Amino acid sequence: MAQKVLVTPHLLDKTSGPHLGPLSQTDLEVIYQPVGFDTIQPGNIEQLLTDDVVAMLASTEPLTREVLQNSSLKIIARLGVGFDSVDIAAATELGIAVTITPGTLEVSVAEQTLAMLLGITRQVIERDKEVRSGVWKREPMPRLAGRTFAMVGCGRIGREVIPRMLGMGMRVLIYDPHLRVDLLPENANVHRTKSLEQVWAEADVVSLHAPCNAETEKLINSETLKKMKSTSILLNTSRGGLVDEVALAEALHQGAIWAAGLDVFQQEPLPLDSPLFGCPNLLMASHMGGLDHDSSRLAGTLSAQCIVDIMHGNWPDACLVNPEVKSRWKWDQP
Ligand code: GLV
Repeated sequence: MAQKVLVTPHLLDKTSGPHLGPLSQTDLEVIYQPVGFDTIQPGNIEQLLTDDVVAMLASTEPLTREVLQNSSLKIIARLGVGFDSVDIAAATELGIAVTITPGTLEVSVAEQTLAMLLGITRQVIERDKEVRSGVWKREPMPRLAGRTFAMVGCGRIGREVIPRMLGMGMRVLIYDPHLRVDLLPENANVHRTKSLEQVWAEADVVSLHAPCNAETEKLINSETLKKMKSTSILLNTSRGGLVDEVALAEALHQGAIWAAGLDVFQQEPLPLDSPLFGCPNLLMASHMGGLDHDSSRLAGTLSAQCIVDIMHGNWPDACLVNPEVKSRWKWDQP
């Protein structure tokens, strides 16, 4: 029985995708999800993880303990940098190596953050629609220079965002209890705070760049939204779980904050009965912050290369999420 690698991200073209080069160095048969099948929806991915699927080049499908226990997976190579979709503790216990693709898509997410921010303040979509329908509205818009851009989370993506905001003349306020001091850029307009209260009180823009975990889940909720300035903008290009969407919808309707830009949602695709539809001053995108032409090529190549490296006994340490797995990882040849 040939061993297989299941490739789920739709952006990887079956005939010319960047993953094919590295994977051709293995004997693995490359398989994909059937057309019209959606592995992200709970209950679906397990149907494709047959006994012969030993590696997975993964999108954000829920790889829970139960799914992993019932699989023969040895390697999960995520195309992306988030790994909250994988039960890492279970993977480690089961001897499954999990990798991500650092260094491939941070610039893309930073550009998306900038695009959403300017799209909101300059009301790009509304003005375009109006002009096309013969409406000529000219109203002043908020200026960003001199205002405070507060970041919650300052990992690799956050650190790409900083110079872009500084370039627009903004003051950057960073909240990240885990940020190493030596990684903090030295700049008179960059400040660090240990207080989320300071973030809510001072931010003209609150931008989320943190993973979703017990510390950050629903960090943006009715209480924290009340503490933000009524003129402020919320941006989320990280994970939907950080925002209580019901509370945000209410805050936008009541004018508790001025606007929001969301690239990510608690459930994706966003269900059509979401309270977010119909909210004023809300700009939305389909979780494509990390997706540009360069990042797709780089992440597609790197995720596949991680599979090859691990199979050949070379641990890709910079990409490996669970190094503790090394002692219990073994590859069963067919
Ligand atoms: C994208 O959201 C990623 O996980 O990198």
